[in-house]
Amino acid sequence: MREEIKSVFAGLLDQMQDKELSEKVVDVWVDCAKEGGWKSFEELCEIPFTLLTDTEGVNLLEHTVAVTKGALGIANAIISTYKHNPFDIHLDWVIAGGILHDVGKLMEIEKTDGSYRKSYAGKCARHPISGAIAAAKHGLPPEIQNIIICHAKEGDGRPQKIEGVFIHQADFATFNPAVMKKQGLLF
Ligand SMILES: [Fe+2]
Repeated sequence: MREEIKSVFAGLLDQMQDKELSEKVVDVWVDCAKEGGWKSFEELCEIPFTLLTDTEGVNLLEHTVAVTKGALGIANAIISTYKHNPFDIHLDWVIAGGILHDVGKLMEIEKTDGSYRKSYAGKCARHPISGAIAAAKHGLPPEIQNIIICHAKEGDGRPQKIEGVFIHQADFATFNPAVMKKQGLLF
């Protein structure tokens, strides 16, 4: 399953300078897939990216790539546009954090009797927490742990890395329209 997961993220991983870090990112995904009890890559490809609204077939892997590309787009827009960029932006952390922001959902979501629901592990620790724990287990730096924890409401009002702010915005730019569509607020 490792090679298949790696191939999904290849276009992003290839942009990382730190190859050791990019391998660890894949390790975390493989480990969390195992921890979550997912048996095959095909199973991974069917996991919806959220249980909170109808995803209309958009899966967790696609969502993860789209969010990472979006966060990277914001980061690159700032870097390439501002004459005096006041922010210290670490592109490797945008990519690593983007790919890992929802990795905890592999443990938070379970498939029972053909439908997806929150797992017992997910009740104990939401995906930003379980994802950060998994990243720490594989030796990813505290900055990336912070990005994973703070990409969701756990980060509200907390000190955080700018890479996590980009990921948070890209995440909600992809999540909110799904909710709005369901509510009839998108036309
Ligand atoms: Fe997400």
